Amino acid sequence: MSSPARPRILVVFGTRPEAIKLFPLVHALRRTAADVRVCVTAQHREMLDQVLEIAKITPDYDLDLMLPNQSLDALTARLLTELGRVLDTDKPDRVIVQGDTATAMAGALTAYYRKIPVSHVEAGLRSGNIYHPWPEEVNRKVVGSIADQHFAPTETSRDALLAENVPADRIHVTGNTVIDALIETRARVDSDASLAAAIAPIAAKYAGKRIVAVTTHRRENFGGGLKSVAQAVRRIARRPDVAVIFPVHPNPNVRGPMAEVLAGLDNVAMIDPLDYPSFVRLLSLCDFVMTDSGGVQEEAPALAKPVLVMRETTERPEGVTAGTAKLVGSDEELIVTEASRLLDDSAAYEAMARAHNPFGDGKSSERIARIVVESFA
Ligand code: UD1
Ligand code: UDP
Repeated sequence: MSSPARPRILVVFGTRPEAIKLFPLVHALRRTAADVRVCVTAQHREMLDQVLEIAKITPDYDLDLMLPNQSLDALTARLLTELGRVLDTDKPDRVIVQGDTATAMAGALTAYYRKIPVSHVEAGLRSGNIYHPWPEEVNRKVVGSIADQHFAPTETSRDALLAENVPADRIHVTGNTVIDALIETRARVDSDASLAAAIAPIAAKYAGKRIVAVTTHRRENFGGGLKSVAQAVRRIARRPDVAVIFPVHPNPNVRGPMAEVLAGLDNVAMIDPLDYPSFVRLLSLCDFVMTDSGGVQEEAPALAKPVLVMRETTERPEGVTAGTAKLVGSDEELIVTEASRLLDDSAAYEAMARAHNPFGDGKSSERIARIVVESFA
């Protein structure tokens, strides 16, 4: 039985970025009197497990739902059924979800079907276009319409929620927990380089070159978009002074087209997804980043790395406004032009390589944990 002094809280996640952004919160909640459980849907498998291992989190429930290349509707149907079962067994007083994945959306919906209140971490991100990013823009709106606690990372995200008539007293501007994860992990890597062993041989191979870190996985870029990103990477890597380090998302829709264009190139290291400490090390040692990732857009400016955002729109305008990120879409010419500018024009590079941290101060999880627990008092 739960009590107001020891509320039962279920944290639900399923993918790599959710795990990275929620592990500091799980740790913070576990330092309170709350009874905290963790349910992973394992919408991702090996990429999720990489994070669980370094964060030392053993899930109370593991739904093991990943199937190769599964469709959004099949995934969502299985998420709803299996998460419903967990909620019926666990009977939490509150469910916490993060961001805009299928897991977050289904976690909020199954909780709502049982009238269990929902907290949304990383609330209020909006691009204004339901197909960019797809399906995340609708996923997060569904979560936002259900949640009664909205943890907005920035004032911009708070304003987006206010514009949707979310009552002001339900919105808390906390910063993004990704910065908590980044700061903690960077400190761990700084004091024990062996934690980032996976990146060491690749960094050594390309010592003396300008390193460009690349990631891509967005569904709206599948097909032609990814092909043109791959062509751009190929052209950038023709320069003898450059090496591209590219941890490739295991989704076959990403792997296939990338391998077709980039396999066998000397200056391109297409590697498996890196564990988080090794990826943080890569971000620290690279010259700049080209990505369509959400989380990487938040981390790179904290490490003073320019970001070329390979998307048409971003729900994280803070970096673009500050001049440390540039939207380049999946346009081959534009990607090559902007990457070449960063490589050849040191003034342009310095203008973008400023440390700035609109996304958080590393204490977001403590704030969120306190608000969640105090709401039971
Ligand atoms: C998902 C999220 C997206 C998030 C991204 C982070 C949805 C709809 N999409 O996209 O919002 O930005 O995660 O990476 O929730 N796979 C593996 N091993 C893994 C992970 C994935 O092999 O550890 C392969 C599988 O074939 C899987 C496919 O990738 O079916 C797609 O995974 P899925 O979670 O459906 O979508 P992502 O594109 O990863
Ligand atoms: N990341 C990682 N290893 C990698 C690539 C990325 O640990 O090889 C981390 C990255 O630091 C960030 C998160 O994964 O915190 C971003 O995940 P992804 O790009 O898959 O999802 P998104 O943020 O776009 O939802």
